[in-house]
Amino acid sequence: MAYSCIKTDTRDHVGLITLDRPEARNALNSDLMRELADALRRFDADDAIGAVVITGDEKTFAAGADITEMREKSFVQAFRSNFLVEDWDAMSRTRKPTIAAVAGYALGGGCELAMACDIAFCADNAKFGLPEINIGVSPGLGGTQRLIRQVGKAKAMEMCLTGRFMHAEEAERSGLVARVYPADDLLEEVLKVASKIAEKSRLAAMAVKECVNRAYESSLSEGLLFEKRVFHSLFSTDDKQEGMDAFLENRTPQFRGK
Ligand code: CAA
Repeated sequence: MAYSCIKTDTRDHVGLITLDRPEARNALNSDLMRELADALRRFDADDAIGAVVITGDEKTFAAGADITEMREKSFVQAFRSNFLVEDWDAMSRTRKPTIAAVAGYALGGGCELAMACDIAFCADNAKFGLPEINIGVSPGLGGTQRLIRQVGKAKAMEMCLTGRFMHAEEAERSGLVARVYPADDLLEEVLKVASKIAEKSRLAAMAVKECVNRAYESSLSEGLLFEKRVFHSLFSTDDKQEGMDAFLENRTPQFRGK
C-alpha cells in the first residue's frame, strides 16, 4: 500500500511511523487510519522489527479525528462503516510493543492514540486533551475509558467535561506519560528506548505486554494466575535458556525469538 498520510522508516530493529498531514495538524481521517493500520500490521509481521514508535511533527502529534470528514457523516453512515474504529483495532491487535513520541498537541483521537500505545513519552511542549465536548461529541477511540485508568477519575472527568489541556509536566506527574524530554531530543531518546526494547527476547516482550495489559481486563487474582502461567510457559523457549546462560557466562544474550 502506498502511503500519503504517514511515513514509515526503520531504525535499529525499530519500526517508525510518522503521521504526516501537517496541513490538517495530522488529523486522523479514514485514509490515515487505514495506512496506520497497514503499517502496524507490516511491522508486527516483520521478524526484523522488535518495537514500533509512532510520532508526529514538532508542533502536533495529532489533532484528533478529522472534523472536516466527520462533519459530513450521519449516524447511519458512521455506524454502518464502523467509522474510524474499523482500522483502529489494529492498535490493540499489535503484539509488539508500541511507543508514542508526542510533541505538541495530542488532542482527541491524537491523545487516544498516545494512550493506546504501550508507553507514551512526550516533549516539554506537549499538550494533551480530549476536547470533543467542544464540538458536540464524546471521545470515540477509548478516551473516556483509558484516561480514567491512567490519571484517575477527577482529572479524567475534568478533562473530558471541560476540554482543558494537560501540559507535559502534569502529564508525567499524573502517569499519562513515562517521561518528558526536551523537544529537540524527543525522537532520538524515544528511539533509544525502543531499540533497547527491540534487543530483548521478542517472545518475552510480547508476553510481558500481554501480562501488563491483562491488568486492565481482570481481577488481581486472575491477573496473577495469568502472569504465573506466562512466566512458566516462557521456560519452554530457547530465549529463556540463552538469557540465563548469557547472564551466568557474563555475556550479552543473542535472542532469536524462539
Ligand atoms: N480535523 C480537521 N482539520 C483540523 C483539525 C481536525 N481535528 N485540527 C486542525 N485542523 C486544521 C484546521 O482546520 C486548519 O485548517 P486550515 O488551515 O485549512 O484552516 C489547520 O488544521 C491548522 O489548524 P489551526 O489553524 O487551528 O492551527 P493552530 O495551531 O492554531 O491550532 C489546534 C492547533 C489546537 C490543534 C487546533 O487546530 C484544534 O483545536 N484542532 C481541533 C482539535 C479537536 O477538537 N480535536 C478533537 C477532534 S474529535 C475526535 O478526535 C473524536 C475522537 O475521539 C476520535
